[in-house]
Amino acid sequence: MTDKIAIIGFGNIANAIITPILDKKLIHPENVYCVVNSEKSLKHIKENYKYSINVYKSCSEDSKIIWDCKYKLLSVKPQHLKDITEADNIKTKDNLLVSILAGVSINRLTQKFPNHQCVRVVTNIPITVGKGLTGIAWGENLTKDQKQFTKKLFENTSKIYEFNEDYLDIFLALTSSGPAIIALIIEALSDGGLSGGLSKILSEELVMEMILGTVNLIKEKKLTTSELKNLVTSPGGTTIAALRVLEKKSIRSALIESIVSASHRSKEFN
Ligand SMILES: NC(=O)c1ccc[n+]([C@@H]2O[C@H](COP(=O)([O-])OP(=O)(O)OC[C@H]3O[C@@H](n4cnc5c(N)ncnc54)[C@H](OP(=O)(O)O)[C@@H]3O)[C@@H](O)[C@H]2O)c1
Repeated sequence: MTDKIAIIGFGNIANAIITPILDKKLIHPENVYCVVNSEKSLKHIKENYKYSINVYKSCSEDSKIIWDCKYKLLSVKPQHLKDITEADNIKTKDNLLVSILAGVSINRLTQKFPNHQCVRVVTNIPITVGKGLTGIAWGENLTKDQKQFTKKLFENTSKIYEFNEDYLDIFLALTSSGPAIIALIIEALSDGGLSGGLSKILSEELVMEMILGTVNLIKEKKLTTSELKNLVTSPGGTTIAALRVLEKKSIRSALIESIVSASHRSKEFN
């Protein structure tokens, strides 16, 4: 990764993507050019970020330098996309723009950045601890190098899946909204423990360890989810009593519809 890279929006997710790449010395800090919106973030990055990267405030004269970078990571919130305008005097060829914006289609990106080949990526919050899932949909006419560069950005911190763009909204629903759904489930189950007299801290710890153990068991023993369920559900026992309550409250349907709804919402952003 010897070329310059511009990071348009250096927030939580951009930080999680770029920092491991800098840690592994795959790119030199002086080749990273990032732009943020506020004076506060500018100051924070200059004073506290562990690498001495180039950082500019949006709309400043100096920030125009980002358009000289062949590679760009677009990582502002979707509602701020309207504030980003491609420079009109781009001289470099084969410019790549990798967008992680929820719900913004390749078509929209290509219209907004006509001098770039665009890639749409969906990643998720566990990328901040190197356990992310990243879905990539390629735009048209991408070179082998551009594809390789895109994968390099994410492969240190996530598993990569390549998709037709049509599937990115449902991928986002499952993997990007999923962590909030899991957090809600952990919280609710822990409240169950709390109701039985355990402390909040212990309840949450037990629930999280139980989830990790269950997932490991399913994966290691190559069980189906039904097989696992049958393993722990004995006739007239405690687990079937619990499952009956969940079925009565339509939890399956609620979870299915939550994913479908998140996917629809992602489509609406475009
Ligand atoms: N959070 C998640 O779970 C998650 C997961 C996957 C993907 N994503 C996607 O990742 C993107 C970034 O999310 P995030 O959580 O990292 O957001 P974030 O922490 O709020 O970061 C957004 C960054 O964009 C900057 N910015 C805003 N307006 C700008 C402008 N006009 N020009 C340049 N920079 C500008 C902000 O600067 P200031 O700090 O100065 O305002 C900030 O550095 C979103 O599009 C989101 O859909 C998020």
